[in-house]
Amino acid sequence: MFDFDEIIDRRGTHCSKWDMMQPLYGVAPEDGLAMWVADMDFRPPAAVSAALEAEVRHGVHGYFGGDADWKAAVAGWMARRHGWEVEPASIATTHGLVAGFALCLQAFTAPGDGVILFTPVYHAFHRIVRANGRELVQSPLVERDGRYEMDLDALAGALTGREKVVVLCSPHNPGGRVWSREELRALADFCAAHDLLLISDEIHHDLVMPGGRHVAMPLAAPEVVERLVMLTAPTKTFNIAGALTGNVIIPDEGLRARFAAVQMASGGSPNRFGVLAATAAYAEGDAWVDALCGYLAGNAAAFDAGVDAIPGVRSMRLEGTYLAWVDFAGTGMTAEEVQARVERTARIAASHGATFGLGGESFMRFNLATPRARIDEAVRRLQAAFGDLQ
Ligand SMILES: Cc1ncc(COP(=O)(O)O)c(C=O)c1O
Repeated sequence: MFDFDEIIDRRGTHCSKWDMMQPLYGVAPEDGLAMWVADMDFRPPAAVSAALEAEVRHGVHGYFGGDADWKAAVAGWMARRHGWEVEPASIATTHGLVAGFALCLQAFTAPGDGVILFTPVYHAFHRIVRANGRELVQSPLVERDGRYEMDLDALAGALTGREKVVVLCSPHNPGGRVWSREELRALADFCAAHDLLLISDEIHHDLVMPGGRHVAMPLAAPEVVERLVMLTAPTKTFNIAGALTGNVIIPDEGLRARFAAVQMASGGSPNRFGVLAATAAYAEGDAWVDALCGYLAGNAAAFDAGVDAIPGVRSMRLEGTYLAWVDFAGTGMTAEEVQARVERTARIAASHGATFGLGGESFMRFNLATPRARIDEAVRRLQAAFGDLQ
């Protein structure tokens, strides 16, 4: 029903992933493979294209107004797919979630306040915390039986009293953990015990391997809503990152008012194209996402098997997301040597592990949301680039 195998040439289309890999990684687009930034090489559900085509046919693209349909679509998706009833009034729309995260820091923290990240984690969190003059507090995840876990005891012991916020990435990017109900509950208890605000970035919540289940934070710990900000978006799920439309969901009225004041001060209003595309996706994208997750699981299985066959290289099993997290520590090579082999020999642009913070240094992150033929080609190239280890 959905063709995820089609190779769509994105080069020369102002596409960050394919058009920026030469300047950023030195990988030429002519024969390089773009496996870094987290968007997919697939078309979105047909309903998204239809909504945008209708807008183009209409031909006038003024300011967006009247967001009841949009908020109903967000709430409908959360109820239908995640079992959480969201009050439409608790949803704020931002120009993407990186922007939403920055507004949260401005609304809920002051310069110098500590913001806790479980590292390695999404690099933009680090950048935004630092750029806003907040103190970055890195709490390294520990690897147990090949999966990341939070070490809340170690974190408790390291607290200085300046920390105001904990940021959870759920599912986790990178490493692909889908946190269990018990893990989420423990984190909620930790936040209550230390009076910390919890920002739960659940942008990857729909991208869970078949058989797994993402638990929305408030379902694991209902009382956490008094200190919770949840970030969700249709953009990862439906591959419409260029729509830059995110949901900042704040159940508590007092927190919501503080966020609204900062958002008002920043002067934003919804992006018309983004909201139209996203409303259509939430309304009609269910079957597409289900098929997508099955396809991504096949990609992950093929990639992991191929990469794990290289001595000293190991790809973490993904429970969610399409971002393979590959540890090269066992090769004994420096990060620079690994990058040189990946970028210059294999001609693959992949994200450097150190940019994700403490614990990421020996890793590289490969985006698997691309047709299977490209995954197979990436495996062939990596096996050849590290062929001397065989
Ligand atoms: C955890 C996480 N949050 C946010 C984003 C990006 O959000 P946006 O494109 O809405 O700014 C990403 C993209 O990879 C992500 O992984």
